[in-house]
Amino acid sequence: MENFYFFTPTKIYFGKNEETKVGKIIKDLIVNKVLIVYGGGSIVKNGLLEKVKSLLDKEGIPHIEFGGITPNPELKKVREGIQFGIKNNVDFVLAIGGGSVLDAAKDISHGIANPDDDVWEYRTTSKKPAKTLKKGAILTLSAAGSEMSNSSVITNTDINKKSGFVSDLNRMDFSILNPELTYTVSKYQTGCGATDIAMHSIERYFALGEESGLTDDICLSIVKNAFKYGKQCYDNPTDYNARANMMWAGSLSHNGLTGCGRTFLLTVHQLEHALSGLYPEVAHGAGLAALWCSWARYVYKSNISRWVNYARKVWDIDPSLPDEEAILEGIKKQEEYYKSVSMPIGLKELNIKESDLEKLALLTTNNKNRVIPGYKNLAYEDVLEIFRMAFNR
Ligand code: NZQ
Ligand code: ZN
Repeated sequence: MENFYFFTPTKIYFGKNEETKVGKIIKDLIVNKVLIVYGGGSIVKNGLLEKVKSLLDKEGIPHIEFGGITPNPELKKVREGIQFGIKNNVDFVLAIGGGSVLDAAKDISHGIANPDDDVWEYRTTSKKPAKTLKKGAILTLSAAGSEMSNSSVITNTDINKKSGFVSDLNRMDFSILNPELTYTVSKYQTGCGATDIAMHSIERYFALGEESGLTDDICLSIVKNAFKYGKQCYDNPTDYNARANMMWAGSLSHNGLTGCGRTFLLTVHQLEHALSGLYPEVAHGAGLAALWCSWARYVYKSNISRWVNYARKVWDIDPSLPDEEAILEGIKKQEEYYKSVSMPIGLKELNIKESDLEKLALLTTNNKNRVIPGYKNLAYEDVLEIFRMAFNR
């Protein structure tokens, strides 16, 4: 097992009606004014925004709102939020929504706390925020894991670049997780969520590292549960037990736990971020599903024993099958799973243009200036081949 640093400071309030505690939780943090950040209106429609506002009012906490964060959140909207927050003198940011809203809220917090910074530079230079505002989340979609993660992913539409920024300052002070708030998530977004949750652990399992048996078992258990409960949520959106297990899997899969003792590398994520950066209409989970099986078929020979273990443990492949057949059968089963939750298994299903494949490989490899490390290193030509394979599915 490799040395590791593990830090998960976010307080979690999990279960039915837990969002009703939000006023008291924020009051205890000694806050002067709250900026509520939200998305395209799902929380307006279902009444959650009004409910939270009245809970803050009850505690006498002033608040203002900043809505309209889009899926795959845009830098220009984040910058608008920063200016709005500075102008209104807020000292706390409350995100209500899915990963896009939470990520935007993270960068808005940094930008307000460091008004001379350009938050995009945290991604393009060695500059890092000196401080941030306190922040919390009420999660309404189980997927990205931003509620406990140390990362924030923003798209600069001027250059079609989607980019993550990793820092302990990205950790929420608290996250409220009421599975009932995810009942209204569409089947498609539920499929995206199951894919993304499982992928955060799959990627860590296949990242470089020495023997890490306990972490591997935790990892693969989360993958199995994400797939299992994700499908149950897809089939029955108001199944509390399924929504609850999916939600908790989402948080555990990306808070760092499933990577302890292994190198942190999210390879397929890097390809996907190029994809949804260039095609912002592509949902992150759908992009991952469309790429993963092609990536798997391209790299599996570089570590047969790890792949056999994955196929047998996650997909219960017949132990009598020879190694390579077992691996390919496992990949096929994962593809079938994706189809069963309305996920694409190739790029044509997402209307990606063949003429953009090279551009995607260039975006992924910073114009051929980097090789993505792994049991099989991926240079520009490898990445391009994976995009081609995914296009030809
Ligand atoms: O905007 P609203 O109206 O809220 O609608 C959203 C949005 O259209 C809707 N939704 C959310 N909760 C709902 C709901 N609809 C009905 N009922 C509810 N309860 O779902 C749509 C998608 O939301 P979004 O936040 O975009 O989805 P997700 O949580 O999958 O987040 C995706 C973003 O997170 C990034 C992705 O790249 C992408 O930008 N990621 C962030 C990570 C992190 N910070 O750690 C890690 C991930 O790997 C990922 O890259
Ligand atoms: Zn992800």
